[in-house]
Amino acid sequence: MKKSVSFEVNGQHQELAVAPSETLLQVLRDQLRLVGAKRGCDSGGCGCCTVHVDGKAVYSCMTFARSLQNCKVTTIEGLTKKDELDPLQTAFVEQGAVQCGYCTCGMIMSAKEFLSKHEQPDEDQIRHAIAGNLCRCTGYHKIVRAIKIAGQTTDLAGE
Ligand code: FES
Ligand code: FES
Repeated sequence: MKKSVSFEVNGQHQELAVAPSETLLQVLRDQLRLVGAKRGCDSGGCGCCTVHVDGKAVYSCMTFARSLQNCKVTTIEGLTKKDELDPLQTAFVEQGAVQCGYCTCGMIMSAKEFLSKHEQPDEDQIRHAIAGNLCRCTGYHKIVRAIKIAGQTTDLAGE
């Protein structure tokens, strides 16, 4: 039976009826039409569904929507303010860290949380931080470089 859950998504209050097995990923994509978070493995193995819940990066495919009462969810769509890309998004574009783009939104959400807690990280720290996000295309070098540059040049804390 569906139950009502209220939470915030990208600063907007939402009250939605969700089934017991419904995941945050399903709610975002199917009910709210926020399709930045991607459905890849749907089982916690690829990271392309990553979003933030109360500032922490989580796999939305592994998060039951019913657990989100009073939580604050941020998706990749919420990083863009007044049509301006987040500095981390800009770094990905400028460094060519995107090919097919399927992993990109999840990768950025993981990196965003990481950079909010680590100033000027080195490559090993970055690679460790994104170990739960798989990319089939880029070979990771440009992704790591983009995160490193963003970490050196901007104040990325907060959302
Ligand atoms: S789709 Fe969620 S971890 Fe792969
Ligand atoms: S850019 Fe294609 S999977 Fe990462």
